[in-house]
Amino acid sequence: MNGLVLYRSRYGATRQYAEWIGTDLRLPVIDPDMLNDQLLAGCDFLVIGTSVYLGDLLLKAWLKGNKHRLEQKKLFFFIVCAPSPDASGHGQIIMDNIPGDLLRPSTDIVFLPGRWIFRQLSPTDGRVLKEKALAETDPAKKAALSQDSDAVKKEHIAGLLDAVRSFNQSIEM
Ligand SMILES: Cc1cc2nc3c(=O)[nH]c(=O)nc-3n(C[C@H](O)[C@H](O)[C@H](O)COP(=O)(O)O)c2cc1C
Repeated sequence: MNGLVLYRSRYGATRQYAEWIGTDLRLPVIDPDMLNDQLLAGCDFLVIGTSVYLGDLLLKAWLKGNKHRLEQKKLFFFIVCAPSPDASGHGQIIMDNIPGDLLRPSTDIVFLPGRWIFRQLSPTDGRVLKEKALAETDPAKKAALSQDSDAVKKEHIAGLLDAVRSFNQSIEM
């Protein structure tokens, strides 16, 4: 397969998914800042992973700055979000973060559940979650925001792996 996995992660959830994807598909996993024209010319597709913080993808600015290069390629996005994702907000995250030129019918986007472990968070990030928990009125959501939660599981990447494999078969035919 001629593809690359690019990702940005703050506490490792997105990195874990990127490594599983790279290993299973036997693709190089690189920092987006390492992407250059030579690497890009040699690949048929990119798998791009990024987590979301307060509605912003960690790769938001990078996507905007690199859209002219990315629009030539088949793109698969995986967006790592809250451990219990609220799908009602996913459309907004896409619209706010991924440049319109990259949102073609052929662009695949999946949301994968992430994790938060309070002792690993920066003081600011820990405070943000605590403030969200305080403001939350739904008791179940309040409890979820108040404790460690880890939903990162390899099984969640199965659909993405299938999509990449079937794209690759289609271009080899
Ligand atoms: C301060 C903070 C803000 C977050 N904001 C959002 C958010 O707006 N939407 C969401 O779905 N998840 C949000 N999350 C959950 C993260 O996306 C999740 O913890 C993810 O696994 C982080 O992945 P990373 O370790 O690869 O950066 C937030 C987490 C933290 C700690």
